[in-house]
Amino acid sequence: MIKFLNKINKDKLKGVALLRLDFNTEDFWRIDLILPTIIFLKKYANKIIIISHKGRPNNFNSKLSLEPQVKYLEKKLKTKIKFINHFNFKNIKNTIRKSEQKIFVLENIRFLKEEYNCSQQLASKLAQLGNYFVNDAFAVCHRCQTSVTELPKFLPSYAGLQLEKEIKILGKNIKKPTKPLILIIGGAKAKDKIGVIKNFINKAKYILLGGGSGNTMLFLKNINVYDSLREKDEKILNDFKKLLKYKNIILPIDYKINQNQILDLGPQTIKLFKEKIKIAKTIIWSGPLGMIEDKRHIQGSLEIAKSIILNSKANSIVGGGETVMFLKKHNLDKKIKFISTGGGAMLEFLAGKKLPGIEILKNAKKIRKRI
Ligand code: 3PG
Repeated sequence: MIKFLNKINKDKLKGVALLRLDFNTEDFWRIDLILPTIIFLKKYANKIIIISHKGRPNNFNSKLSLEPQVKYLEKKLKTKIKFINHFNFKNIKNTIRKSEQKIFVLENIRFLKEEYNCSQQLASKLAQLGNYFVNDAFAVCHRCQTSVTELPKFLPSYAGLQLEKEIKILGKNIKKPTKPLILIIGGAKAKDKIGVIKNFINKAKYILLGGGSGNTMLFLKNINVYDSLREKDEKILNDFKKLLKYKNIILPIDYKINQNQILDLGPQTIKLFKEKIKIAKTIIWSGPLGMIEDKRHIQGSLEIAKSIILNSKANSIVGGGETVMFLKKHNLDKKIKFISTGGGAMLEFLAGKKLPGIEILKNAKKIRKRI
């Protein structure tokens, strides 16, 4: 059983909390979503030590330092935070013990290559810094990495407030969504999306496909997709082929082409997608529907976002960094009912896979290790 942070006896939260977060975004939107967890812990814990990663380094790299995130967090919390920019654990322990400050952030944990290989040694060193562990980093729960899956083996471990929402809201919408449900899938990589599409094929009234997944399906229907992004791996193409028979998959019927590539939905497709969206009671959306880096190709994503927000009362769920940042940029995020902090993690969760970072929270007590 997962223990959720806000359901446990507050006396258990008194000591030093080790809090795993995910600061891995181009801007700070994920930090905004986990602020309630820090505020909650600030109230009950004596000290909080935040652990996060950014990018995929395995050595010190100043470009991937967490310093900008610490500055942002200080501003948001209006509190001084102690940033610890080294991994001399003896020294870290002393600093934390002596410091007057309450919140500490360790430097990017992926600067240590041991973060990637489920190191029991690193997990034990981290565990020695605190009394209990809180995971509020849903976005990295699909990874088997030391601070996600090993650290909870050494300490009492709880799911943070955002992780609780992710598990409950996404979970409910897999098991018992309010119907009709419309799934909207875009983004560049089709292979990351096949699992979700398969898991929802019998649950969704319609699955609207754009981006790499849409192009892949069009290609399999012998429609010319020019040099557009599409899946090329035979095994995954085969999986997509099996979806051709499903009538609830709705593909683009026209597109904007530039430099021999499909880069956005065309006006007829936008109209068609909007009609489908109108009937939804639940909408789940991941991945932009065009190449939104270029403002000439944002029309499809923009129109779809507006139609979800303005013309539909559906329970809307959006995930994936690019999609969320796009909505924020156009000030369309406020009316989305639930924004998931997960990118790949959300896709895997929605595909019905068990995420190791969540599974360990269910089982950690049974396999508790000595520090
Ligand atoms: C994300 O941004 O999706 C997570 O932080 C996971 O990052 P990763 O794909 O580098 O493990």
